Amino acid sequence: MTSDSVPPTDANVIEALKKAEKMRIEFVANVSHELRTPLTSIKGYTETILQDVEEGKTADPEFLKIILKNSNRLLALINDLLDLSAIESGADELHRSELDTAEITAHVIKHLERFAESKQTLVEFKADIDVVLADPKRLDQVMTNLIDNAIKYCPPKSKIMVSWSKEIRNQKKWIALRVSDNGLGIPVHHLDRLFERFYRMDKGRSREMGGTGLGLSIVKHIMQRHDGQVLVDSTVGSGTTFICLFPDHQ
Ligand SMILES: Nc1ncnc2c1ncn2[C@@H]1O[C@H](COP(=O)(O)OP(=O)(O)O)[C@@H](O)[C@H]1O
Ligand SMILES: [Mg+2]
Repeated sequence: MTSDSVPPTDANVIEALKKAEKMRIEFVANVSHELRTPLTSIKGYTETILQDVEEGKTADPEFLKIILKNSNRLLALINDLLDLSAIESGADELHRSELDTAEITAHVIKHLERFAESKQTLVEFKADIDVVLADPKRLDQVMTNLIDNAIKYCPPKSKIMVSWSKEIRNQKKWIALRVSDNGLGIPVHHLDRLFERFYRMDKGRSREMGGTGLGLSIVKHIMQRHDGQVLVDSTVGSGTTFICLFPDHQ
């Protein structure tokens, strides 16, 4: 029996409310922690600079760079949180239209070209289908998140393939977007939790690379708003594929 088909008895409702409350408490704790880390650093370096200036020394530009980096982190985090809440609450309406898959994919890859080049990583794409019904801004965001992750978490000189195809799953027709890499792969015990807010395999590494830990949960919510879903398939040592399924209305 799936959770969708469980009858809504009082006990089930209470259980669901308890779970939602626990998640809310955890979320507030996580957000506070994520905000505190860069703020503590900004405070510490600002105090040091202030002390230096008061003693007649000049401000160390390295310290100022750290302050700027942490300010950017805070801003990225707050932007992602606001975006996630707009998508989740439905406050931000979807504007679905028929999008040219080749055009939008080429646009996103172009945008990430420099980053890919800096890691000598090749991003290729092939499209077996021409159009997908989606919100252009949100589809751009989904693809950017997934391709950016693939470039970021794969070793240099990796290969990434972005593809579009039709497929049938659970007797339904879908348009599938795949982002595959030949990186290190993700151990199976992480796979279930990967789409949770702030879940990262390696927190330090993700933060160092400017990640907020919210990218995949944003992808998940965007796909849900499109009546679709996102899946992940990964093998340690050979790579990872993220699959986004959009309903095929034809
Ligand atoms: N293609 C990938 N290969 C390996 N690990 C990945 C890949 N994509 C995502 N991950 C893992 O999933 C985590 C969550 O990704 P995401 O939600 O985008 O957060 P962020 O990139 O900000 O850390 C990453 O920190 C990383 O550990
Ligand atoms: Mg990411």
